[in-house]
Amino acid sequence: SMDKPNIVTCTAPVNIAVVKYWGKRDEELILPINSSLSVTLHQDQLKTTTTIATSRSFQEDRIWLNGKEEDINHPRLQSCLREIRRLARKRRNDDDPSLDSTGLSQRVHICSVNNFPTAAGLASSAAGFACLVYTLARVFGVEGELSAIARQGSGSACRSMYGGFVQWIMGEKEDGKDSLAQQVEAETHWPELRILVLVASAERKPVGSTSGMQTSVKTSSLLKHRADSVVPGRMADMIEAVQKKDFAAFAELTMKDSNQFHATCLDTYPPIFYLNRVSQQIINVVHRYNRHYGETRLAYTFDAGPNAVIFMLKQHVPEFVQVVQHFFPPETNGGQFIKGLPVNSAALS
Ligand code: PMV
Repeated sequence: SMDKPNIVTCTAPVNIAVVKYWGKRDEELILPINSSLSVTLHQDQLKTTTTIATSRSFQEDRIWLNGKEEDINHPRLQSCLREIRRLARKRRNDDDPSLDSTGLSQRVHICSVNNFPTAAGLASSAAGFACLVYTLARVFGVEGELSAIARQGSGSACRSMYGGFVQWIMGEKEDGKDSLAQQVEAETHWPELRILVLVASAERKPVGSTSGMQTSVKTSSLLKHRADSVVPGRMADMIEAVQKKDFAAFAELTMKDSNQFHATCLDTYPPIFYLNRVSQQIINVVHRYNRHYGETRLAYTFDAGPNAVIFMLKQHVPEFVQVVQHFFPPETNGGQFIKGLPVNSAALS
């Protein structure tokens, strides 16, 4: 018989944490030491596109990232594949025994591309694993709660399973079943909010988040203080600021949380430096701008890399773009924008 492959393509956007996740209590299941909260970007902006094909003629599972074949035996990739296939099998057995079983035994070929620099601290793994899990679920006909599976690919990926404002509740259970992402507000909630990414360097980050977190959990007493005594209150305050659309409160919490995250990196031994000179200049420009207006109009946040993500309201974008062009001319680091990113679209398509 003809062997037509079954092909599914999906996209998933990057998310930017405003209350950062840093540190695992369980490495295998990827369970965090604190809850976190993020904003999912617009679908058409920074995103991963994944195409998965299944065919009876495929001999083995294979994966290509940005055109280059990678090792399919990567443990976290294997976790996602295993979990989706397990759910598919469960669904077939429990709900609908008549469901065709051939698809389940078929091997997959996965092609995934990012439209932005990988591993430059732009949360590429978040969009990547969210997209992988969502696309696999489509291929194998799995529905329902998928964030706990995306979480096992990359912690931050669970938050890219939803649009808008998303919290990852750390959970308490040892099996991780309650460590899930949950939408706080939909993408339509705050249409005036804008994000701009300033590229301070497109190089690969020196210390990946996995090993960085491990060293921080082992050596930083500040991280323990942050997880136990700071983040719980900050999550509540951040959710309130988002719900009220209180930009100044949202912005101040965002900057303080980014600063504390990078302080825990400095408190790690040996220390981890994610911010560079350009990042520090961007921080200074933001505070000068806010001081000039006597009002918090801008917020910065940095993940595990030097690139800045700046939050502002729509009406302040043109002026801020001019300020950036003044301090960071186009050829220089910092002078390269990725895009003005509205936050008003669903997470997955
Ligand atoms: O999901 P990971 O392992 O790539 O870790 C992400 C960590 C930060 O981006 C620094 C913070 C966050 O909450 O996204």
